[in-house]
Amino acid sequence: MPDFLPALTGCFAQPVAENPTVVMMEAAFRHHNLHCRYINMEVSPENLADAVRGAKAQGYLGFNCSLPHKIAVISHLDGLAPSAAIIGAVNCAVRQPDGRWLGENTDGKGFLESLRPLINPAGQHVVLFGAGGAARAIAVELALAGTTRITLINRNPDRAAPLAALLAPLLPEVVSLPLTHPTTLPPDASIVINATSVGLFPDVSTSLPVTGFLPHMIVADVIPNPPQTAFLNLAAAAGCQTLDGLGMLVNQGALNIGYWLGISPDRSVMRDALAAVFSPNP
Ligand SMILES: NC(=O)c1ccc[n+]([C@@H]2O[C@H](COP(=O)([O-])OP(=O)(O)OC[C@H]3O[C@@H](n4cnc5c(N)ncnc54)[C@H](OP(=O)(O)O)[C@@H]3O)[C@@H](O)[C@H]2O)c1
Repeated sequence: MPDFLPALTGCFAQPVAENPTVVMMEAAFRHHNLHCRYINMEVSPENLADAVRGAKAQGYLGFNCSLPHKIAVISHLDGLAPSAAIIGAVNCAVRQPDGRWLGENTDGKGFLESLRPLINPAGQHVVLFGAGGAARAIAVELALAGTTRITLINRNPDRAAPLAALLAPLLPEVVSLPLTHPTTLPPDASIVINATSVGLFPDVSTSLPVTGFLPHMIVADVIPNPPQTAFLNLAAAAGCQTLDGLGMLVNQGALNIGYWLGISPDRSVMRDALAAVFSPNP
């Protein structure tokens, strides 16, 4: 008899209908002949507890949480992985062999997996734009990887202050600055990251008001759609090596599959599937 019972994974979010992660996860499952499904599930904050109970009752391998559930889901899990505990947010819940549910955060880990082939973050000075969830996850993973100096630049300084306080005990130097028009990069920065939502489709021609890109800088963007943002175009024009947000998205998805199924899926298959549904470059 064929096996009609797939192993289940998916994403709880609101809104979730346009979440493209399903495309790359299902592409990986097909490529590796895995009898698994990834399902987008529209879950409101008041229904999160029931949704998690449902996933547990239905034998899910695990699930992703996106906005607005990344913090609220923690109270429905049995424990947190070390970096998720520091970040204070979970994007990936994982059923353990003993039936307990562990919260991981793979956003920052996915970013670092993209970054490492270009530069070792240890000992570097990183300029990080943003102070939201993506910036927080990336900053904590950078600090844990040995980055020695992070210059945080955010539009709203009140939002940057708690992130700077969280990071202070984790690395030698954290400086927090407001976003100015323009903002000139410190010339000794070796890694520059846009972890804001500026440049996300459909505002594809918008960039942070940044000047002072130098050819030695590795410049990254978390925006996956479009992969080549206006911010990355500015950096590339100045001779910088660039890193797009599609790689981070693919890597975090691949890490999620690793936690759920114990395999390392083919990133290129996932990237191709996702790139096919994203918009053309600006
Ligand atoms: N590639 C990936 O795998 C991946 C993973 C996670 C997130 N992301 C992307 O990362 C982006 C940020 O996500 P998030 O969860 O961190 O969002 P968030 O918590 O809402 O934070 C948004 C950040 O963007 C800043 N911002 C928004 N509009 C701005 C503007 N016009 N000018 C300057 N700064 C502006 C905010 O500054 P204020 O504090 O001043 O408002 C804040 O720092 C999203 O576009 C998301 O798609 C990508």
